[in-house]
Amino acid sequence: MVNKGDGDLSAVLVIFGGTGDLTHRKLMPALYNLVLDKLLPKHFAIVSVGRRDKTVEEYRAEIHDSIDKHSRNKIDETIWSKLEPMIYYYKFDFTDMTGYAGLNSFLDQLDQKSNTKGNRVFYLAVAPEYFETIVNGLQISGMAERKDSWSRLVIEKPFGKDLKTANQLNNKLLEVFNLDYSSSYF
Ligand SMILES: NC(=O)c1ccc[n+]([C@@H]2O[C@H](COP(=O)([O-])OP(=O)(O)OC[C@H]3O[C@@H](n4cnc5c(N)ncnc54)[C@H](OP(=O)(O)O)[C@@H]3O)[C@@H](O)[C@H]2O)c1
Repeated sequence: MVNKGDGDLSAVLVIFGGTGDLTHRKLMPALYNLVLDKLLPKHFAIVSVGRRDKTVEEYRAEIHDSIDKHSRNKIDETIWSKLEPMIYYYKFDFTDMTGYAGLNSFLDQLDQKSNTKGNRVFYLAVAPEYFETIVNGLQISGMAERKDSWSRLVIEKPFGKDLKTANQLNNKLLEVFNLDYSSSYF
């Protein structure tokens, strides 16, 4: 899902479902391997959203252990030391529409620290029934439409339960994320 893009891949990756199985077993090991292969953009940050109380240190330690367990390459502490400071944990119930403004401010602050230029990738690693809820939250908080930066949305399968619900979801995404086919893609 694309709106504006200028070819600069600096970004904050926001993972909804950051404490879930997919994040621990697949997403974080994949990010680790991107660092290993020197393929992650220089200016990059990862914000994991979850409901559970935990400090960023606790969250990073859990991710370290998951990468060690699930990555195709066993963890090398030098590589981990590059990824670790990019990872943040943000506690927030994504069904609470009043919470998105706080997340937005947190991401804006992170841009200053990480030089990520307001660019966003929202990864919905959550059960499908929450896709529209989160997209609504991104819409009302102004996080979907960026003025001088770009945003992307990644949706996990299944995309709807059948053709009708897949079309409904597609229409919602097109309403919120304004596709511009003249801009660049990646
Ligand atoms: N696991 C896989 O290998 C896999 C493979 C292919 C596709 N998928 C798809 O990926 C998605 C996620 O699967 P999963 O296995 O990772 O699920 P999961 O282990 O149940 O994780 C769900 C995540 O959503 C969070 N969450 C749920 N309700 C929330 C709320 N109201 N506010 C904030 N966070 C909330 C949970 O946070 P808490 O920690 O607070 O509960 C947890 O981080 C699903 O759509 C699934 O079909 C998964």
